[in-house]
Amino acid sequence: AWVVLAYSGGLDTSIILKWLQDTYGCEVVTFTADLGQGEELEPARAKAEQMGVKEIYIDDLREEFVRDYVFPMFRANAVYEGEYLLGTSIARPLIAKRQIEIAREVGADAVCHGATGKGNDQARSVRFELGYYGLKPDVKVIAPWREWDLNSRTKLIAYAEEAGIPVAQSKRQEAPYSMDANLLHISYEGNALEDPMVGYTEDIFTRSVAPEDAPDAPTFLDIDFEGGDPVAINGERMSPATMLTALNKYGGDNGIGRLDIVESRFVGMKSRGVYETPGGTILLRARRGVESVCLDRGEMHLKDELMPRYAELIYNGFWFSPEREMLQAAIDTCAKNVNGTVRVKLFKGNVDVVGRESAQTLYNAKLSTFEEDDGAYDQKDAAGFIKLQALRLRTLGTQRGPPA
Ligand code: ARG
Ligand code: SIN
Repeated sequence: AWVVLAYSGGLDTSIILKWLQDTYGCEVVTFTADLGQGEELEPARAKAEQMGVKEIYIDDLREEFVRDYVFPMFRANAVYEGEYLLGTSIARPLIAKRQIEIAREVGADAVCHGATGKGNDQARSVRFELGYYGLKPDVKVIAPWREWDLNSRTKLIAYAEEAGIPVAQSKRQEAPYSMDANLLHISYEGNALEDPMVGYTEDIFTRSVAPEDAPDAPTFLDIDFEGGDPVAINGERMSPATMLTALNKYGGDNGIGRLDIVESRFVGMKSRGVYETPGGTILLRARRGVESVCLDRGEMHLKDELMPRYAELIYNGFWFSPEREMLQAAIDTCAKNVNGTVRVKLFKGNVDVVGRESAQTLYNAKLSTFEEDDGAYDQKDAAGFIKLQALRLRTLGTQRGPPA
């Protein structure tokens, strides 16, 4: 039997790898994805080879991640509970998808992931496994943390040492935070952050300077959009992953995209998290800027009504679901009309839209002007419009008297 393991090369997934070989006696295929987490992946190959793995997949998925997951999600301006830009949530379906593809390629009938399914790690199991089952209904999911008896840090370390898996000194203790990183964001949860009234300390951040330490002069960017997606900065065209990398740098340098929230998890509890999403935060504001001239009120408002549903589906792990696809189809239909340029000003933690233009603009200076308008808009039309809008209010007022 063959099993495909989502393998980071770290201590926990190395223990899982060994445990799979010992417990199931199966041939393990490792899969390590580069999603822009900013870690060297070659050490994972060396470790897997050392542990006798014959099929090792190390895939650079950065372009696919941004083009097929991050950008489509941003077309909806998706934000969970008004704040969270879904940086971790949106990466899980891609990992699941690639893992299932590999399972098909090598003829494996099982997949395995390293989520503990405990503490603040329940959502990872849910998201991975909903992805697996959605894409391969007959797949066998092996979840070591639900099966083995290595239920303490001490037992895990002992198991690793006995198996000859190198345990770095720092790993003997728990890491300071539970972290997850990719090209869209980095997150910090747990330990010192578990009291939601206790503030984060500056030293946790890795992708941004503090707003108060950001440059005293603003940075201006012109971002071009085509079909709802950003394609160029200051006239320079770039691929999706290059674009997000560039925005991350601009954002990080200007102290943009830090967030400290308490969020409602799918499985029921509240959880506190601190995030850095520099590029995504710029992108969200910039998209709104270009949409404001390209989209009709009707499509824009309906999109905004659908957005919380869409965001919740992604947060809860339902990327591969018919309802997410239905919403995506509606969102993509309107994204086709989002073409233009937006100018943003980055300054000490803030991103402001300061200009927008589009060949398809719905903004008509003739209609909006406070000055002489050559008869483009007839004020007299407003009289009947207002009178009819007021009809029911007047009827009510007559019947019930003025509101208290
Ligand atoms: N709370 C965020 C989410 O559910 C981030 C989770 C980060 N994952 C982690 N294992 N620390 O999407
Ligand atoms: C995830 O990493 O997908 C969520 C993990 C969690 O529950 O924090």
